[in-house]
Order: sequence, then structure tokens, then C-alpha cells
Amino acid sequence: MSGIIERYRAYLDLGDIPAVTLGEGGTPLVHWATWGIQDIYLKLEGTNPTGSFKDRGMTVAVSVAKAQGARGVICASTGNTAASAAAYAARAGLPAFVVVPEGRVTREKMMQALAHGAKTLSVSGNFDQALAAVRRLAQERGDIALVNSVNPWRLRGQETGAYEIVDELGAPPAALVLPVGNAGNISAYFHGFRRYGRGIPQMFGIQAAGAAAMVEGRDLENPETIATAIRIGKPASRHLAQEAVLVSQGQFLAVSDQDILRAQQELAHGGVFVEPASATAYAGLKVLRDRGALPPGPIVAILTGTGLKDGQTPFQWIDQTTYPTSADALGSHIERLLEEGAARVAH
Ligand SMILES: Cc1ncc(COP(=O)(O)O)c(C=O)c1O
Repeated sequence: MSGIIERYRAYLDLGDIPAVTLGEGGTPLVHWATWGIQDIYLKLEGTNPTGSFKDRGMTVAVSVAKAQGARGVICASTGNTAASAAAYAARAGLPAFVVVPEGRVTREKMMQALAHGAKTLSVSGNFDQALAAVRRLAQERGDIALVNSVNPWRLRGQETGAYEIVDELGAPPAALVLPVGNAGNISAYFHGFRRYGRGIPQMFGIQAAGAAAMVEGRDLENPETIATAIRIGKPASRHLAQEAVLVSQGQFLAVSDQDILRAQQELAHGGVFVEPASATAYAGLKVLRDRGALPPGPIVAILTGTGLKDGQTPFQWIDQTTYPTSADALGSHIERLLEEGAARVAH
């Protein structure tokens, strides 16, 4: 079956409405490492159709919008929601309007939204201000569906990530580690595990230190981090996320931009290329390990978006050396590089 609606329709309360789908979900759960008594798995959400986990929620939100006769969809976005909304709206034959904080969305995400034909509006200010504006507009108009994660259908769709993990491991993991911005995804996973009825893992929400509104327990006016996807100061799902962490006996944790870059590099050197926001989860996972805060058993980190979403940031750590050579000299150059171990990277 293709797409999360057909696979999990019984859990989604959608009746028999037609699915607007691009075949999302079914993402790889890769065994990454064994750290003593922990088996570490990475869920590669960047393999979704538009390159991020947002597609799980978007297929549901856009299917409902279409079935209810919406004239279009609108969202505020740090980029991934825009790309996803644009793609699913295009699939549904609906216009998409995306509102982004000016100059703070990666080129690649903007390109995606524009390629799918979305009308893009930029506001000066940050994501939080953009979200407030689209919420107001959607409420006033009524005929344009708001497809941010404040739309409950988005979170219902994102719950399916939890279902997949339970289906694949045969039980919930001992802990789940994921990046937190607007706090929708951590809330969706929590409710997903609850609805699936097999138990709830300890939930660890990782934030960038400059945008750690959940860790600090207060809203921030000027969030700042290289991980633009989670550069959010007023998490819309704060209360749901607090409940998730409290009930599951997990915690929120902040990591520095430096830690995020190192985590992105380490994952990439192990073959897994994710965007900075997603690397935040792995950076947090390592801090939790070093503090002895992880429970024994399988641990899953949700890597929310592909590295191809941000073509700039990795150049802060990529070794761009190229070696001048010639056809005649190639063999000896390769031999020397092998001896120097230059072609080998470790994680
Ligand atoms: C790649 C990526 N990771 C994590 C998040 C955070 O998810 P949430 O805002 O639901 O906390 C986002 C949100 O935009 C994202 O794009």
C-alpha cells in the first residue's frame, strides 16, 4: 500500500475520504550503532516525498481540506512545511500560499515551494510572527485551510511515525529522541504511541540553545540558530509537548550550534546526510549518552529532514580539498591517499 492514509486509515478517523498522497511514510529505520546496553536506530524521515517528516501530516491535512471543499491552503513556514504544503496542494489541484520569514529559509526549500507553484509571501520578522498572521487570516476567511501543525489533522498524520516504529521493532523503543521547534512532532509521536496502545517510550526533545523555548520554559522574542527549521521562539504546541515529556519521564535538552554541526558531520561521515535541525536530535542523543541519561534498550532518533534541504551550512565543516592529478599520476595519488587514510572517515 502506498501512503500512510491507506496503511493506517483505521487509526486516522478519516472515514473513506479520498487520499491526496505522494506515497509518504514507510521510511527506513536504520540500525546505527550499539552503545553498550543501547541499540541506536535512526528513522530517516528525509526519505519522504518532499524530503521531510512534514509529508505525513500534510497528506492528511490536504486530503481533509480537499474533501471539505477548501479553495486553497495556507501555511507559515521555516521551509519544510512550505515545500510539503506546496507539493500536496499541487497534487490536489489546489492553490498554496506560503508565508515565510524573509531571508531565513534555505534556498532549497524556497525552490521546492516555488517549483510546485506555491505563491510565496515573505514577512519581515520571524516564523512566530508569520504563524500569527496566517492563523488570523485563516480564521477570518474560512475558505482557505490552514495546514500548519496547529491543524489537528497534521498531528494525526505525524502520529503514523510512531505506528511504523512499533510495527518494525515489534514494541515501542525505550526512548525516542527528536528535534523540537514548534513542538508539534514530539506531541504527535506521543499521541501516536498512546493511540497504538503498546506503551510509550521516554520522550527526549532536543532544541538549539539559541531557540530553546521549551527548555527555558518561556517564549523567546528573537530565537537564533543555524538550524533554521527550528528557529522558533513561541512553540505553538508547547502544552502538548510538555505533557509528552512529563508523562513519559523524558526531558527537554538544549545543544549548541557547534554541537549541531559536529553531529551533522558525524552522521554524514557514517553515510547519513541530514539537515542541521535533524542533526540536533543526534547531538542531543550523544549528550544524553554521556550523562548516562538513556534507558537500556532500543533508542530511536527521528532524523526529520534530508541534508539536501540546506546546501550552505555543511560547508562550515566539509573538507573541500581537491587533489590536482593526471591520468598517469592517478594511481600513485590514490595509493598515497589510501596510505594517509585520507579517504577514510570514522564515526
Ligand atoms: C527538519 C525539521 N526538524 C524538526 C522540526 C521541528 O518540528 P516541530 O516544529 O514539530 O517541533 C522542523 C519544523 O519545521 C523541521 O523542519
